[in-house]
Amino acid sequence: MEHEQLVDFPKAFLWGSASAAYQVEGAYNEDGKGLSVWDHFVRIPGKTFKETTGDVAVDHYHRYQEDVKLMADMGMKAYRFSIAWTRIFPEGVGQVSEAGLKFYSDLIDDLLANGIEPLVTIYHWDLPQALQDRYGGWESRQIIPDFVNYAATLFKAYGDRVSYWVSLNEQNIFTHMGWQTATHPPGKKDPKLFYQVNHHANLANAAVINKFHEMGIDGKIGPSFAYTPQYAIDSNPLNVLAAENAEEMMAHFWMDVYAYGEYPIVALNYLKARGLAPEFAPGDAALLKSAKPDFMGLNFYQTATNAWNPIGGGVENKDSYQMNTTGKKGTAKESGIPGLQKTVQNPYVATTNWDWTIDPTGLRIALRRISSRYRLPVLITENGLGEYDKLEAGQVHDDYRIDYLKKHVLAIKEALTDGVEVLGYTTWSYTDLLSWLNGYQKRYGFVYVDQDETMTGSLKRITKDSYYWYKAVMASNGDDLSLLQ
Ligand code: BG6
Repeated sequence: MEHEQLVDFPKAFLWGSASAAYQVEGAYNEDGKGLSVWDHFVRIPGKTFKETTGDVAVDHYHRYQEDVKLMADMGMKAYRFSIAWTRIFPEGVGQVSEAGLKFYSDLIDDLLANGIEPLVTIYHWDLPQALQDRYGGWESRQIIPDFVNYAATLFKAYGDRVSYWVSLNEQNIFTHMGWQTATHPPGKKDPKLFYQVNHHANLANAAVINKFHEMGIDGKIGPSFAYTPQYAIDSNPLNVLAAENAEEMMAHFWMDVYAYGEYPIVALNYLKARGLAPEFAPGDAALLKSAKPDFMGLNFYQTATNAWNPIGGGVENKDSYQMNTTGKKGTAKESGIPGLQKTVQNPYVATTNWDWTIDPTGLRIALRRISSRYRLPVLITENGLGEYDKLEAGQVHDDYRIDYLKKHVLAIKEALTDGVEVLGYTTWSYTDLLSWLNGYQKRYGFVYVDQDETMTGSLKRITKDSYYWYKAVMASNGDDLSLLQ
């Protein structure tokens, strides 16, 4: 629908930006921090772009005050960051680290002193290696009480100061890449195990949400889902069916569990018929049903377009899944699952150098679909453009990022006008940071950091043009349309 006039952003809209511990902190073995699965995985040759690690990352651990000061100067309202489980419990459980608790406590206090709302992600993929070694991490049900114990420690320590909590970041991505494509830790390809691991993550997510509500914390909690809205290439009913299959298997399969506590019918039937369905223990169904998130966190980067993919002769490369991690445009390989769908190019949308589509209308579609299907407010916890940036004469002119973000902010305004309740928008990312598989050359930040694949950069912070554009957007509460068109 086209609106003649757009509504204003809500007064309390959370304008902000985001990061994750492993991607920014560095100090990977300091002050008693334990090692995470990522600290190990990056040391396996060939796993990351040019063997990059987060050992130093952008040194946020030592420079967080400088980073918060830049946020404050920008007029930022919210900052989403994750807590490294291994700083709180070096071994995953047991002895709590006072130094770790203090680091995040100081960061939270500094944010609040500067009028910035802290949004805490409890789990952004850096599982304690000790739990992986002890019982296979997410492969065991033991992860459920251990995750609750860790989260409850955070609720107790910070619940008086933190009002927004993200339980799991992109469960669909860390399980898929960890157990389907072997591109994230623990680097396995085991479809049956993948669905079981994912089931454990669903149970842990539900248990943590319940714990939060039981503890009576004054705040909101929800998972952040990496939602890629699925389109059909055209109106051929088979292509439409392929898009429906993708939506069912790649989106409803997670979000239905979060919101309704049940797997979607068609997807579960498909898995049962192939012996891949997760095994339920007594009490699982009731636990999933009992947990109610306060919002749906949305990480939106792109949309995908689908065509029919027959069982005989269809595209099949989920096992040798190959993303573009080099930044050489056009190198992503076609992917698909015979009998379900294959992903094809959309002639109507541009793509980045990493072959991600640029589709702001897709964000509006995502917001509307989530709102109508789940009747939950949406917190946009990630959205942004990963690109090469050039530092020239001490400046970064990232007009392409401004263009990307302004179109997405306008799409949010349109979705608000459609009637969607959007709580906030934390872009990815605040400073430049380590992209898990793409090194330091794929940059997302408002603040450039002098760091690269050599991992010997000066770590100096330099504000980009987009920093000043976003400052003006926030100052006008997104209402100055001249900034958005
Ligand atoms: C999301 C993650 O998947 O996308 C972030 O939550 C990640 O941690 C971001 O960095 C961008 O992905 P990438 O692969 O370009 O770094």
